[in-house]
This record gives sequence, structure tokens and C-alpha cells, in this order.
Amino acid sequence: MNVVHGTDHTQTPPSSEEVLIQVEHLQKYFPLKKKKIFGPPEVVKAVDDISFKIYKGETLGLVGESGCGKSTLGRNLLRLQEPTGGKVFLRDVNFTDLSKKELRSYRKHVQMIYQDPFGSLNPRFTVGQVIGEMLTIHKLATGDARTKKIKELLALVGLDPDRIDNYPHEFSGGQRQRIGIARSLALDPEFIVADEPVSALDVSVQSQIINLLIRLKKELGLTLLFIAHGLNVVRHISDRVGVMYLGKLVELSGTDDLFDHPAHPYTAVLLSTVPDADPAARRERIVLKGEVPSPINPPSGCRFRTRCPLATEKCAELLPELEEIRPGHHVACHYPLEEGESLKERISKNDKGAVNL
Ligand SMILES: Nc1ncnc2c1ncn2[C@@H]1O[C@H](COP(=O)(O)OP(=O)(O)OP(=O)(O)O)[C@@H](O)[C@H]1O
Ligand code: SF4
Ligand SMILES: [Mg+2]
Repeated sequence: MNVVHGTDHTQTPPSSEEVLIQVEHLQKYFPLKKKKIFGPPEVVKAVDDISFKIYKGETLGLVGESGCGKSTLGRNLLRLQEPTGGKVFLRDVNFTDLSKKELRSYRKHVQMIYQDPFGSLNPRFTVGQVIGEMLTIHKLATGDARTKKIKELLALVGLDPDRIDNYPHEFSGGQRQRIGIARSLALDPEFIVADEPVSALDVSVQSQIINLLIRLKKELGLTLLFIAHGLNVVRHISDRVGVMYLGKLVELSGTDDLFDHPAHPYTAVLLSTVPDADPAARRERIVLKGEVPSPINPPSGCRFRTRCPLATEKCAELLPELEEIRPGHHVACHYPLEEGESLKERISKNDKGAVNL
């Protein structure tokens, strides 16, 4: 089934025609405690009018600097926080319109894997209780059937099923993340948001967990939103990648196209900081001027303009919309880089007088 709601970006599906998740103009504002006597209270615009689709069976990576709104987007997608505005469709169900009761039964379709495998597991529960809690809440299995299911889940994530009565502190960091993954799989979800699932782990363990997620995705037909800091990790696991800056989605494309031909200046800067194994492909590092502006009072027009080496007056006046510049490649910039053009080349062209108009 191909669900299309409203007029949104056309995206070239990577492996499937079926849209599983459709996000429309999602917004999350956090009101702050009122400091001024007069005037409205200040709000943090953590996620500000973001629209995109996630195709069934794909892994969509999401990157961006700390505080740009990645976790807030993930949480609001699953309604672990209530969005301020916008809609999220799971197939043709408007997830944002479900009542609390409806949401509870729908929850089993969508799950979250957290960054901190220790903090997200109740230390007083055995592994069997941690994983089995979901089965009990949703009345899916009791007694021997419940134990059997828990043991199957432990085996699925590469843990010894006989350790069902051990406590989380008796496992290593990587093993604890496997428990977190087993818990998220207990209800046979279709869609999982993995919020920096390997950031808290030793580098040596990270690739094991990534490979586990890749295998589970294939075996179980999962669809993933994979949030990460490390661009290399995202490249390894993602079919497509989205780049966020200050509450906005600024670029969205197939992984190889994004890494080989970034079109947004911010993506080009991010990529220039990635250590590359291949010296021939190494990009000249570009250092951004200034700090990330506050999401309470973001810049007018393009939010990146206060740091962008290509910014013009137009960028301060007009917010660039996310538009498809070539099949499957979307960018929100008035002057996107051409395929094969580097940011350094564009800067030097502009310096020589070929200024953006
Ligand atoms: N509950 C909250 N109340 C107020 N502001 C919040 C709240 N949660 C997040 N924020 C703010 O929203 C913005 C986005 O935060 P978020 O945690 O989504 O960023 P992130 O991209 O996940 O960052 P990181 O990479 O550090 O995890 C930040 O400015 C943050 O301070
Ligand atoms: S719209 Fe302007 S400021 Fe924003 S990224 Fe593009 S060139 Fe830079
Ligand atoms: Mg986060």
C-alpha cells in the first residue's frame, strides 16, 4: 500500500514502495518558565516544521550536532512526548490523533532503543522480568509461553537464554544493549527508533551492536530510524540519511549520494570533519565560524545563515524549503552545491566574484 497524505516531498524509495511512516509538519516547542513580566513566555523550538517519509524496510539515519533536535524528533514520532503540532501517520493511521487508550494498543507496533543501556533497564528486575514486562502489559504471553518467548528473544540478540534470571549489572555494556534490543523486540514491532544505541559503548563493541541491528532488520523486516553522532556509523547502517540543524531537516538523501555529493553547506562541513580511511577521498576540513544559535531565538530565514560561508541577504529573508534537487536528494538551501562540486570550490568561486544571486 502506498499512502500519500497532502502535498509532500517526493522521495525515491530505497528498497520498497510502501510508506510506513509519514511525518507532516512535525513541531515540538518546549515552553520555558516565564522570566519577563511582560510578553509571551519563551519557547525552545526543538523541532520546527519537519516533514519526511520512512519507507518500509529501510534504515533512515539521522545526524546533526548536539541539541539540534534528533532525540526530540524521535520521541515525538512515537508520542513518547506530545508534539506541539503536525501529524505522524503509521501507514494510514494518524498516530497523532489516537486517544490514550488507542495509543496503548498501538504502542506495540513502534518501539524505542535508548542510548544508555544501563539507565534504561530497571536494576531491580531480572533480564526475564525486563523483557517479560512488555509481554505481560500487553497480555501476549503468560507462564511457560512467556518464558519460552523471553528465551527466544535472548537467543535472537546473541545472549545465552539460560541467563534469564540474571540482573542487568551482571552483564557488560554491549550485553546490556542487547537486552535493551530484546526488550524492544518483545512485541514484534514494525518500526524502531534507535536513539544513539552505540554512543555509550566501547568502540570495539559498537560494530557488534550495529551488525546485530543490521541482521535483525533483515531477519525481522524491521524499519529503523537510527539517530547518531558518528557519520561513519550512520553510513554503515543507513539506506538514507537525514541531516538536522537547529530544529530543521536540511538535507535528506540516499546514503551514498549524501556522502559523495552533499548539497547543503552544513552537510559538507560535517563531512569534512569525518576521518576517511581513503586518503584520496579525504576532504579538506572546514571549520565553522561561531556557535550554534539558540533554538529559543533562531536566526530569521535560513537557520544556518549565521555560520554559512555562502550566506547572502536572501538567506536572512527567506526560509529555504526542503526541495528535491535530483531524484531522491532533498535539500533546504537557496544555493545548493552541484553534484561533484565541493564547498571549498564554491567559496573560492564566490571570492572570485561569481557571487550567489
Ligand atoms: N524537556 C525539555 N524542556 C526544554 N527543552 C528541551 C527539553 N528536551 C529537549 N530540549 C531542548 O531541545 C533541543 C533539542 O534537544 P534534543 O535532546 O532533541 O537534541 P539532540 O539532537 O538529541 O542532542 P544530542 O545529540 O545531544 O542528544 C535542545 O535545545 C534541548 O535543550
Ligand atoms: S540558504 Fe543560504 S545560509 Fe542557508 S545554507 Fe543555503 S547558502 Fe547557506
Ligand atoms: Mg539526543
